[in-house]
Amino acid sequence: MESRFYSTAFATIAPYYDKLMSFVNYPGWVDHIEKIINLNNITEKRIFDLACGTGVCLELWSDRGYEVIGLDKSIDMLRVSKEKLLKKNGSLLVNGDMRNFKLGRKMPIITCLYDSLNYLLTEAELLYCFRRVYDALSDDGIFIFDMNTIHSLRDAWGNNGFQRRDEGLFSIWSNRFNPNNNISSLSITLHVRRNGEEMVLREFHQERGYPLMVIEELLRAAGFDCWLYRHLTFTPATEDDLRIMGVVKK
Ligand SMILES: C[S@@+](CC[C@H](N)C(=O)[O-])C[C@H]1O[C@@H](n2cnc3c(N)ncnc32)[C@H](O)[C@@H]1O
Repeated sequence: MESRFYSTAFATIAPYYDKLMSFVNYPGWVDHIEKIINLNNITEKRIFDLACGTGVCLELWSDRGYEVIGLDKSIDMLRVSKEKLLKKNGSLLVNGDMRNFKLGRKMPIITCLYDSLNYLLTEAELLYCFRRVYDALSDDGIFIFDMNTIHSLRDAWGNNGFQRRDEGLFSIWSNRFNPNNNISSLSITLHVRRNGEEMVLREFHQERGYPLMVIEELLRAAGFDCWLYRHLTFTPATEDDLRIMGVVKK
């Protein structure tokens, strides 16, 4: 007997997210971001990770002596974060929306990683988020994010599907790209065994790619100066990159 569950993004997938992302070199990402932090002479070890998900980076930062705050819209993702941070001092998790949050304190470092900003599907939403980041960032602080480019969603994800087998988990990924709005719609189907029962979990995700010029304009409209690089490099970003990294200051 098989049970089927359909949910919004980052609900049923949450307990399996870390396994599905096990190929991502998060420690390498954190190394690079720490290099940017040091190059910008930021010495205060406090970091606010927007859309922190299951807290992989929060845990890495905490292990490096940073006080961490994570915010995410999905309570299921935060539940996994909480397990990781249970024994860490000076950590805080907030259930909130990055388009509309008030932190009540200024932070010297704010991050938003692994496509999270692509989940904002209109320019207005992106601008709301950048404005909230502006309010939450210290005057000499730094905001570092990554985003998938249109090239990535259109040409790498495209209208393709693939299957993966991870330990105890079989997943089917299927993308559809809409060239009219640069939105990629992704259906993820997970086949898992829980308490001896076969379960099929399905989630529907959407990510939008934005021209680099638009990202820069929106950051400037929020009051920021910004530099866009090819992901994990200091090479200026182009539309031919798959993933870009923004380094942003007031
Ligand atoms: C691809 S995951 C990345 C998670 C984490 N940053 C990482 O590097 O693994 C995207 C995350 O963005 C969160 N998210 C999407 N829209 C959001 C919003 N409007 N406000 C807060 N979190 C949001 C999702 O719940 C999910 O945890």
